[in-house]
Amino acid sequence: MSLPFPDLGDPLPVAAEPRLLTWLARRRSSPAQTLGAPGPSPEQLQDIIAVGARAPDHGKLAPWRFVVIEPRAKAELVERLSALAEGQPNPEQARAKLAKLAAAPATVLVISRPVESPKVPEWEQVLSAGAVCTLMLVAAGSLGFGANWITDWYAYDAGAAALLGLAPGERVAGFMHFGTPSEAPLERARPDVAGLVTRL
Ligand SMILES: Cc1cc2nc3c(=O)[nH]c(=O)nc-3n(C[C@H](O)[C@H](O)[C@H](O)COP(=O)(O)O)c2cc1C
Repeated sequence: MSLPFPDLGDPLPVAAEPRLLTWLARRRSSPAQTLGAPGPSPEQLQDIIAVGARAPDHGKLAPWRFVVIEPRAKAELVERLSALAEGQPNPEQARAKLAKLAAAPATVLVISRPVESPKVPEWEQVLSAGAVCTLMLVAAGSLGFGANWITDWYAYDAGAAALLGLAPGERVAGFMHFGTPSEAPLERARPDVAGLVTRL
């Protein structure tokens, strides 16, 4: 762990962080294909995971886990997925999608693994996995890296699940890709927030 603050358990004053708000308000993903070297160092990747693992988690169940996909393992994975792409409805398109997985210098697979709990519904445990992924995007951005949260067909394919080592009941929350974007990420159309908010 190389996070630049004394101790994660130290008291945290509740204080304004205006720069953080500005950054979050402008946050955007870098398309995976634009992510190249340098990627996060192993220590930085560990920090990104550590920040993700601080996601809100009802019942402290940690209903998720992480798989760091090392470059050599990724090349092998892409090759094997390429073979699986033949079984997809549109093999050519499925193969092309693998470019997103191949591109980034660093990738962490986040796996949702809800557990039986008398108190915490599965839904909330799945939501927590999404929060993990979101925090990882933010952590990567704070370290100066571009990031992209991708699922694609191989997140839902039984053969791919076997390659990824998913246990029964586990699901892919996302392939989290990190690297240095070759171009500044463009803004996308955003929802009109006012239209999404009602008041009781
Ligand atoms: C669960 C989840 C899965 C996603 N999977 C894909 C994907 O497979 N392919 C893709 O192009 N974008 C995917 N996205 C969208 C991108 O990660 C990103 O959110 C989107 O391009 C919008 O960019 P923004 O983060 O700047 O809002 C996914 C997003 C989420 C939340």
